[in-house]
Amino acid sequence: MIKLGVNVDHVATLREARKGVEPDVVEAALVAQRAGAHQITAHLRQDRRHMQDRDIHALTEALDIHLNLEMAAVKEIIGIAHQVKPYTVCLVPEKRQEVTTEGGLDVAGQRDYLTDVVAGMHDHDIRVSLFIDPDAAQVTASAATGADAVELHTGAYANAGGAAVGEELARLERASALVREAGLALHAGHGLTVGNLAPVVRIPGLREVNIGHSIIARAIFIGLEAAVGEILEALKAGE
Ligand code: PXP
Repeated sequence: MIKLGVNVDHVATLREARKGVEPDVVEAALVAQRAGAHQITAHLRQDRRHMQDRDIHALTEALDIHLNLEMAAVKEIIGIAHQVKPYTVCLVPEKRQEVTTEGGLDVAGQRDYLTDVVAGMHDHDIRVSLFIDPDAAQVTASAATGADAVELHTGAYANAGGAAVGEELARLERASALVREAGLALHAGHGLTVGNLAPVVRIPGLREVNIGHSIIARAIFIGLEAAVGEILEALKAGE
């Protein structure tokens, strides 16, 4: 089955709205784990707008399933990753002013630097995924860094309407074929929902999806366990 990573950043977003202790990120992650999530994904941003350092340490302690740490490839966060040793890191671009991760990492433009970052993670037994747009040059560059996986940015597909939906899906399919040929594990994420997941799940070779916003939003109405369950059903139905 395709692995589901539940991104719990927005549990921390809500907590940080009052800078208090509720809702508890670890409790949410444990509910997602109980509901059948295969991993928990969390983004430790440089501005700490949602996840805090203590959350990442607490998640590592509490979880039986894997932690996928999303992060910018900058010295401070690299040091934290080396110390915490999550199962995987997903390297993402990060801009202070953005609302969410906009666009993929420019791997082609910083290949040598990222090759060193990947090697450093491997030295600490951490797998590396690179979050990239579905673009041939970025896939080729990703393979050259020695990364284990790429996560294709599905945001353009998720935001598309009308004829553009098919075009964006075709872009994802073309890039996915290149990812498979390059021998990288194929992941996808961003903007995925119960409603738009099925065509993505049918992309051959897809191993993992990471989903946050739609699950946490749905959880407000039906609860987190049920919201994770709905996505797992959609994953199964699409396969
Ligand atoms: N994958 C990556 C690399 C991301 O940066 C994000 C957003 O933090 C997600 C997946 C999840 O996206 P969404 O919250 O839109 O489901």
